[in-house]
Amino acid sequence: MAMIKVVNVVGARPNFMKMAPIIAAMRKRGGEIEQLLLHTGQHYDEAMSGSFFRDLGMGAPDINLETGSGSHAEQTARVMLAFEPVLIRRQPDWVVVVGDVNSTFACALVASKLGVKVAHVEAGLRSFDRTMPEEINRALTDRISDLLLTPSRDADENLLREGLEPRSIVRVGNVMIDTLHQQLERAKSSKILAALALEPRRYAVVTSHRPTNVDNQERLRNLFSALKEIVRHLPAVFPAHPRTQARMREFGVEPPEGVRVIDPLGYQDFLKLWSNSRMVMTDSGGLQEETTALGIPCLTLRENTERPITITQGTNHLVGSSGQRLTTVARRILNDEYTNEGRVPELWDGHAAERIIEALLNFDHGLTRRQHMVSAVSAMNAGAGVISSK
Ligand code: UD1
Repeated sequence: MAMIKVVNVVGARPNFMKMAPIIAAMRKRGGEIEQLLLHTGQHYDEAMSGSFFRDLGMGAPDINLETGSGSHAEQTARVMLAFEPVLIRRQPDWVVVVGDVNSTFACALVASKLGVKVAHVEAGLRSFDRTMPEEINRALTDRISDLLLTPSRDADENLLREGLEPRSIVRVGNVMIDTLHQQLERAKSSKILAALALEPRRYAVVTSHRPTNVDNQERLRNLFSALKEIVRHLPAVFPAHPRTQARMREFGVEPPEGVRVIDPLGYQDFLKLWSNSRMVMTDSGGLQEETTALGIPCLTLRENTERPITITQGTNHLVGSSGQRLTTVARRILNDEYTNEGRVPELWDGHAAERIIEALLNFDHGLTRRQHMVSAVSAMNAGAGVISSK
C-alpha cells in the first residue's frame, strides 16, 4: 500500500487529549503513514497548551501557526490565512481535525477547498443549540469532511439525518478515552491531592469557562451562590480557565469560602484531581465523557449537551446554569440517591485511535465526494449526458 501523508491539526486545549493517541497509533504504522503535527496556536499559554504536549508525550508540534486569541471571525480567518500556504507547500493526502473549536473548522475549510481529504474525529455530535459557536463548527466541519469518525450511535444518526453519505461515516468510539486509559497509571504519581490537602472522595471539582456562563455576571454570581450551599457539606476546588479568572477580576466576583480557585492544571494532575473527587460540576464537553468513563457523578452546568449518551448511559446530569437544580442534584448525590449509576458506552474502550488509523488506511480511494462534484461539473461542461455515480 502506498504511504499516505497526513497533517494532524490541534488548536486548543480540548484538542490535545484527542490527538495524542492518534499520533501514537500513527507512529506505530510509520511505514504506511507519514505525519506532521500542526498547532494553530489558538491556545498558547504554558498551562493551556505547552504542558499538554509534554504530559501526553506528543513532542513539540512540527509547525506552530501562532494565531492566538481574537474574535471568532479574527481567529478563524487568521488560522485559515496561515494554514493555506502550509497545505499548498506540504501537499498531504489527508488533514485530520478533532473536536469543535475554531481551529477545527478553519483548517477543515481550507483543506476541503484545496481538494485535500478531511477526516473529522468526534463527528456527529449535536447540541441543536446554534447559540453555541462550537455547534456551528461541528455542523460545518462535518458537512465538508470526507471521513466522519464518530464516537457513538447517536452521532451516526445525526449525520444520517443531515443527509451525509453513509459510507463516509465510521463509528470508531471515543478517542479521548484512549488517553484517559493510557494516563491513569501516570496520574497515580501526581502529588496534587497532597498539595491541596485533599482526601479522596471528600471534595468536589468545579470547572466553568463557557462564555455563556462566565461572561455573564449574573450567571457567575448564581454559580457561586449555589456553590456556597454545596460547600457547606463538601469543599470544592475550581481550576479556572484564564477567561474565567479575567471575568472574576473584572466583575469583582469572589468565590465563596470553601471554593478554592486555582490556575488550570496539567493533564495528569487534573485527572488525579477529578477522578478522586466525589462529584464534578462543569460546563466542559470532554469532562462529561471522561467522568462517564470512570463512573464519577457529573453535573453539567448547561441547558443542553451534544453528548446525550453521557446522560442516557453514563453518570452525567444536566442541571442548567441557574444554580437551582445544581444544589438539588448535588444533594441527591451526597445522599447516595444515585447508586450504581452509569455504564461505559460501547467502543469507549481505549482502542479508538487504532480504529481511526484503520479507517484512514482503508478509505475508499475512489472518488471523494468533492472530486465527484468536480468530475460531474467537467462532465457536464463536456456535454456528457450521464454522470457516473461513483
Ligand atoms: C476555546 C473553544 C472552546 C473550548 C475552550 C477550552 C472555540 C470556539 N472555543 O474557547 O470550545 O471549550 O477553548 O479552553 O474554539 N486565553 C489565555 N491563554 C490561552 C488561551 C486563551 O489567556 O492560552 C484567554 C484569552 O484572554 C482569550 C480567552 O482566554 O481571549 C479566550 O480564549 P479563546 O481561545 O478565544 O476561547 P476559549 O474560551 O479558550
